[in-house]
Amino acid sequence: MTASAPVDPTSTDAWKQLASIAGGFAPDLRGWFASDAGRADRYTFQAADLTIDLSKNLLTDEILALLLQVARDIDVPGRFQAMIAGEHINVTEDRAVLHTALRRPKDGAGLVPPKGFVVDGQDIDADVHATLDKVYAFADKVRSGQWTGVTGKRIQTVVNIGIGGSDLGPVMVYEALKPYVQAGLEVRFVSNIDPTDVYEKTAGLDPETTLFIVASKTFGTLETLTNARLAREWLWNQLLGTGAINDTDTARSDAVAKHFVAVSTALDKVAAFGIDPENAFGFWDWVGGRFSIDSAIGTSVVIAIGPDNWREVLSGFHAIDEHMRTAPLEQNVPVLMGLLNVWYSNFLKAQSHAVLPYAQYLHRFPAYLQQLTMESNGKSVRWDGSPATTDTGEVFWGEPGTNGQHAFYQLLHQGTRMVPADFIAVANPAHALKDEAGDGAAVEPGQDVHALFMANFFAQTKALAFGKTEDEVRAEGTDESVVPARTFPGNRPTTSILAPALTPSVVGQLIALYEHIVFTQGTIWGIDSFDQWGVELGKQLALQITPAVQGDADALQSQDSSTKALIAKYLDLRN
Ligand code: F6P
Repeated sequence: MTASAPVDPTSTDAWKQLASIAGGFAPDLRGWFASDAGRADRYTFQAADLTIDLSKNLLTDEILALLLQVARDIDVPGRFQAMIAGEHINVTEDRAVLHTALRRPKDGAGLVPPKGFVVDGQDIDADVHATLDKVYAFADKVRSGQWTGVTGKRIQTVVNIGIGGSDLGPVMVYEALKPYVQAGLEVRFVSNIDPTDVYEKTAGLDPETTLFIVASKTFGTLETLTNARLAREWLWNQLLGTGAINDTDTARSDAVAKHFVAVSTALDKVAAFGIDPENAFGFWDWVGGRFSIDSAIGTSVVIAIGPDNWREVLSGFHAIDEHMRTAPLEQNVPVLMGLLNVWYSNFLKAQSHAVLPYAQYLHRFPAYLQQLTMESNGKSVRWDGSPATTDTGEVFWGEPGTNGQHAFYQLLHQGTRMVPADFIAVANPAHALKDEAGDGAAVEPGQDVHALFMANFFAQTKALAFGKTEDEVRAEGTDESVVPARTFPGNRPTTSILAPALTPSVVGQLIALYEHIVFTQGTIWGIDSFDQWGVELGKQLALQITPAVQGDADALQSQDSSTKALIAKYLDLRN
């Protein structure tokens, strides 16, 4: 499919004015806050349950107005409407991009597009809800013990086998919602083709109470299919080893039927693997892998937390979709955050962006976002095939606070590079522990430990924004020789995101927020955020190199000299 040329953002007047401001830009968060009592208020926004404070960003009203003008010139809202209506905005794969349809309420009045809309001949809402109902029914059976393994025992462990979007989403949400997991159920996640992963994740499991979910959109991913075969082998060997099943083809296939289900868009391939299509949950090519956690790819999580909680996750997603669709641009949080990222990447030359959850249960959120953001926006051609006209996708990374404070925050505070950072926290922790003893010095007995944690959250964004001047350092009686080393420049941009608690809905809201930030940035850059051709070459070469690694001399000879020498060394080192 050919697509019309995107509007080049760099050709707009607003972009040119931003470039001229950036040329002599001297941010002054201290001064801006001192002279403008309304700054925090004006730059704090609400999206569903999320309170988002943008005021500690390197932003003025003039810059914000120009960024918003860029969004209007590019027509970000128009492209979002096109996306949710099912236009094929994934042009290189000629596909609709409809992850927003995965979370439309079943009985929603006033939905846009209206309930029952049809895309490429498919009644999207009907299919989404038929699949959801099937997933919910299955989850209920597993949770109630109605679904049993081949020897009649109820399932205690679910092992999700998938990679990329078929792993990162489920594992992140499972970890985020651990307090909602049904007692007696555990989910483990196998992704890496390093056999250590299957080995470790099956270690100690009882095969009679283990259910494997093979999650793969294409059901053609080497890692996942290899791991699924290893898991099937493990299951058979374990069951045969204890005499739980006889060594017959029928017993083996009965075991697979009771211990393997699949999630895929390719149900024919699922059947070829030996999994009954009755035990398979489908989705569609208009769900991108990294946008698929709210499709049947989330089945492992639905089993763990139950359909009611999952409905809440979906309603959180939908609330942010609605915010993105309806909020005026000036208050549209995903658009504003996407524009800020454009400001930092394209004008202030930031290379990376940190995401720092102050909520331990969100510890996999940065890893999840790495695929969402970088597989989406790490592109150098635009959707019409022409070169990108400006830098695209920043490097996203992060770790939970406060761990990061004792690792890499040094660079955030005093390094030579600017790293914009999103700080994410919740007001009410799942476990409100008190330090009854205190430490006899700084920490009072009975201290609310979450408050201590949050004090760090607030302190870090404050320190990054306002720094510490040489005079302030001197005033502490610091020896002159170390004053420069102990000075903090400040003006390090941060966004603070605060939610009441890490509920299922809030988790959905956070994911949708970042999905639409990605969308905003990709739209401004004119790139197709929904393909991922950049992962293909490595996959092709791995297949081509495999014979060489397995000792085929001709295949080894055909490699470049570095690769050849490395493989030869590897073969040499093998016992
Ligand atoms: O290789 C990249 C990728 O295609 C991702 O986009 C996707 O999430 C992942 O592989 C897994 O693909 P699948 O779900 O088809 O196994």
